[in-house]
Order: sequence, then structure tokens, then C-alpha cells
Amino acid sequence: MNDPMGVFCPDFLVGKTALVAGGTSGVGFGIAKALFSYGANVAVCGRDAAKAEAAAHSLGVIDGRALGLSADVRQPEMIAAAVAQCVGRFGPLDIVVAAAAGNFVVAAEKMSPKAFKTVIDIDLLGCFNVFHAVFTHLRCPGASLLAISSGHATRPVAGQIHASAAKSGINMLVKGLAVEWGPAGIRTNALVPGPVAGTEGMARLLPTDQLAGYVSSLPLRRLADVNEIASAALFLASPAASYINGAILECDGGSRL
Ligand code: HXC
Repeated sequence: MNDPMGVFCPDFLVGKTALVAGGTSGVGFGIAKALFSYGANVAVCGRDAAKAEAAAHSLGVIDGRALGLSADVRQPEMIAAAVAQCVGRFGPLDIVVAAAAGNFVVAAEKMSPKAFKTVIDIDLLGCFNVFHAVFTHLRCPGASLLAISSGHATRPVAGQIHASAAKSGINMLVKGLAVEWGPAGIRTNALVPGPVAGTEGMARLLPTDQLAGYVSSLPLRRLADVNEIASAALFLASPAASYINGAILECDGGSRL
């Protein structure tokens, strides 16, 4: 885990429970690992049951603190069942991360209505479905909800109208929930990862032959390590962020600039 400043006590999440939807790979898995390494019980949820099981196994089986769940965020009943399993095993939820996403690059005029809808369904409706399903299972006050947004929500990129529309919807979803659920002591925030090395998203969005040129244009001249994104997620879920609600935090190394 990337904690060079030693900001977090090694066990500050002991006794807490986290559910990470889309937690079987990429940024979601990185966040799940971070939460687990600081002591939380962690359920990772993904479409593929075998992958979810493998992800939970690779987190570790220390004290039975990891659980793999299979559900498609597009299916509210499946999410409700997964949440019930998680709560049945670990009790009320303290931290919920909605990290499931789908993406591909396609020009707007070539994008079928179904293709557009698919990404809206996974990214935006999926985020709603997860947060809606957990509401009555949150430990309040103190629960923390985190959505994964994107810089494309506010800065359009060719080939990404589906994802841009979905992620900008997520930004407003988070702000709306911050207002509606804040009185119950639930904080809702979004994290905007920059370009993260080794993720499926990067592979899909940037052809390998353009990588070096892209990296040399970034302020920090490098991609993010997934642990750096996980550190920001850890902060937002921690008591150090107890007055941060409805924020869209850019953890992008300044790449937006
Ligand atoms: C054009 C495409 C396409 C492509 C799929 N479609 N891939 N159109 N170019 N490359 C179209 C299909 O033709 C179909 O429309 C519709 O989308 C649904 O496709 P399905 O394959 O039936 O959907 P499904 O099986 O549900 O798969 C979902 C998926 C898939 C998103 C399309 O790629 C997937 O499961 N991806 C895994 C997760 C993923 O993408 N991870 C990366 C996230 S990165 P028609 O009309 O033809 O039937 C990320 C970073 C965000 O999110 C940063 C920027 C925002």
C-alpha cells in the first residue's frame, strides 16, 4: 500500500466493512486491497463469479475478512442479493465503492443506441443501483459512499460521449445524494482517477503506440500507480475526510491541466 507519510494507522479500518462493486480488477480492486490492508472486512463484487472469488482469495483470507460476490450492477435484484450476502456475513456497511464501469472508444455517429445505453446502464445506473441497494444497510452516522468518476465528465474526448454522459451524471448523482443523505450522516463523494498504469481502461482508451507521447505531455511525466488512486479513496473513506461530502476529487497528477 502506498502510504509514504504514514498517515493512516495500520488498523484504522478494523471492525469496518466495505463493499466494492466492480472490485475484481483495476482501480476497484486496488481500492479493495487498500481497504483490506488497513483492516476492513471487504466484499468485492463483479459480474464474473470465478473472478470475484479469485479477487477475494488474492486479497487474503485473514480472519475470513474477504468475500467474493457475483452480481451485474445493471440488475438491481442481483445487487440487492449481493448486499444481503455481504451484510449477512459482516454486518452493516461502513464504506461502499461503486467502481463498475464499461467503456470502448467509438465515434458518435458509429455508436449504436444500444452501445450508448450499455455504458449508461453500467456506469450511471449501476452506480445508482449500488447506492440505492445499500442505503438501508449503512451504519449511520459515519458511512461513506464513493463513486468513480472521470475527467471525461467535464472535459469531452472524442469517442467517449457515452462515458462522458454517464460520468457527468455520476458527478450530479453524488452531489444530490450528499444533500439528501447527508442528514443521516452519510457522506457521498466521487473520485476522478487520472490515467492509471496497467488498467483495462488505459488499454482501451490509449493505443500503445501513443503512450509515450501522451505520458510526456502529463505534468508529472508518468501514469498513476493504482495505489495512488487507492490512497485517495482511503482518505475519502477515512475520518480525516469527515467533513468532505459531495466532493469530486481529482487524483490525476494534474493531467486535466
Ligand atoms: C462499438 C461496441 C463496442 C465497440 C461493444 N459495443 N463494444 N460498439 N465499439 N468497441 C456495442 C455492441 O455492439 C452492442 O451494441 C452494445 O455495445 C452492447 O455490447 P455487448 O457486448 O452486448 O455488451 P456487454 O456484454 O454487456 O458488455 C459490456 C461492454 C464490454 C462495456 C460493451 O466492453 C465490457 O463488458 N467491458 C468490460 C469492462 C470494461 O469495459 N472495463 C473498462 C472500463 S474503463 P449493438 O447495437 O451492436 O448490439 C473505464 C475508464 C473510464 O471505464 C475512463 C473514461 C470515462
